[in-house]
Amino acid sequence: MANEQSDPWGQHAATYARFGSPFTGYIGQSLFLSVAGRLPREARILEIACGTGDLARAAVLHCLEERRTTGRCGSVVATDFSPGMVELAKRTLAAFGVPDVARCEVQDGQALGFDADSFDAVFSAFGIFLFPDRAAGWREAARVLRPGGLFATAVWRGPEDNALARLQMAPVMSALPERVRASLPRPPWLDIASAEGLTKEVRAAGFVAPEVSVFNAVLTAPTPRAMWDMMRDNPVSRLMLSACSHEELAAVERSVLSTFEEMAGGTDRPVRFDASCHFLIARRA
Ligand SMILES: C[S@@+](CC[C@H](N)C(=O)[O-])C[C@H]1O[C@@H](n2cnc3c(N)ncnc32)[C@H](O)[C@@H]1O
Repeated sequence: MANEQSDPWGQHAATYARFGSPFTGYIGQSLFLSVAGRLPREARILEIACGTGDLARAAVLHCLEERRTTGRCGSVVATDFSPGMVELAKRTLAAFGVPDVARCEVQDGQALGFDADSFDAVFSAFGIFLFPDRAAGWREAARVLRPGGLFATAVWRGPEDNALARLQMAPVMSALPERVRASLPRPPWLDIASAEGLTKEVRAAGFVAPEVSVFNAVLTAPTPRAMWDMMRDNPVSRLMLSACSHEELAAVERSVLSTFEEMAGGTDRPVRFDASCHFLIARRA
């Protein structure tokens, strides 16, 4: 069931599928491939906050290759708390026609409906890092994972190391009225934007042997206007912009569009952002 928290993600799902997941999907699939060589045979794989199901797609391909070569394979469960996102993930995975290998479920990652020790590997790309109760997200991931099981997550780096975060927000911040700017809370995920902060948090949730690596990718938006539409529609930035009057929002839009048009070299040119995130891979104690 959609609720107050998941509704905005459901409303954002179609835009995310067009512009967000071609980019984060590549990163999510790369996260999966960074772990695939260490998976046990017939691994039971869970994805938390799967969005449109791109990481799960790589996991299904892994299982199908295993079945082709050994006659048996593991399974994939892709979960998200937004029914709209889960519908899109179902479409992504339905293309394989293997309901015995892959399924999608609506599940809140802060309170998963799975027994302890149900999975051999748990993934979450740009999911748990956004949860209001992040500690519950890590804890649940650890609870459903068997001892020694693999955990992998992708988390954005902070503005100082990540041009996407910096360039996206600079024209917004410079045009926001002081009243709104002063009332903005520090984004909670900045606490885990550093390798040290991320490692400390996942260790506290019961993971051991964490390995953190940097992964870089480029986000391409087809036009400056498309990038602005995606930002305005995103539940995280939408909340921030909701404090603006109509005129104030128009001023932010002008600032963002003029900056992005300059970067792109025209209104009909793509605008590209270098982005940087951390991959953390750990094992459950
Ligand atoms: C930035 S998107 C990432 C989606 C996907 N993993 C990707 O990399 O493209 C964040 C996702 O987290 C989901 N989400 C947010 N809070 C959640 C929660 N408490 N439980 C499960 N999913 C959640 C949203 O619905 C959305 O699909």
